[in-house]
Amino acid sequence: MLVTLKSVLGIAEAENIAIGAFNLTTLEGIRAVIEAAEELKQPVILQFANAAHKEYVSLENIAPAMLALGDKASVPVCVHLDHGADFEEVKRALDLGFTSVMYDGSALPYEINAANTRTVVDLASQYSASVEAEIGSMGAEISEDGGEADESCYTDPVIAAKFVAETGIDALACSFGTVHGIYKSAPKLDIDRIARIRKVTGVPVVMHGGSGISDEDFRKCIENGVRKINFYTYAAKYAGEYVKKKLEESSGYVFYHDVAVWGLESMKKTYIDTIKIFANLK
Ligand code: 13P
Repeated sequence: MLVTLKSVLGIAEAENIAIGAFNLTTLEGIRAVIEAAEELKQPVILQFANAAHKEYVSLENIAPAMLALGDKASVPVCVHLDHGADFEEVKRALDLGFTSVMYDGSALPYEINAANTRTVVDLASQYSASVEAEIGSMGAEISEDGGEADESCYTDPVIAAKFVAETGIDALACSFGTVHGIYKSAPKLDIDRIARIRKVTGVPVVMHGGSGISDEDFRKCIENGVRKINFYTYAAKYAGEYVKKKLEESSGYVFYHDVAVWGLESMKKTYIDTIKIFANLK
């Protein structure tokens, strides 16, 4: 069934877990996430990063599949816009039926980010949808190239508290040592910063850049207030590697539908492993 981000984060808060928010670009990815979540009986977030992934599929083409499969799932499913770039993009997602949007004004000066986020909160409330926004920066766009975290961009808890009070958002994306994509060196996370931000803002913290974080660091982040974890690159990378291996092992014809099935198999395994860590399951 379709639910808002606020609703799944309430479940996460009550159970002291984090909900996986998986970026999607294909039907196989959507099916893999939902099958994994249903098998584990866990809520899940399907998300689309239009700014980064529109070259693979348009928002208008992937949204109906995300919403239809999410709606008939046996577990709570939030359908979320990741890194919404502007009002027009946010409105497109809300008009399509997304139950949650992120507005990412983190690269803008504080006052403009706060004012724009407030406008998005007002707009989303007309659709009964939730809003995530960002203070501090992990880079405005997601990419698979990755990099290293820049401490000067880490989220300041005092500014974060002011931002949440002024905007009324449901969840806050924070910078505390993660980056999008493949890490160039092992990430060093400022866990204490998460706890301070959680305490002074009163809203759930969102981790971006979940690929490449150790199980132990995931657990520490969750214990300190992370309730939504964005994860994409490793699911795509592992599926790509699996397809490559299958192709190398194949003799004779290879049909594209075989490739789609291999992709689904690999992604489902990655999502099961990942949701188990986030939900503290054996
Ligand atoms: P990764 O691709 O690094 O897992 O990050 C995903 C993300 O944060 C999307 O916003």
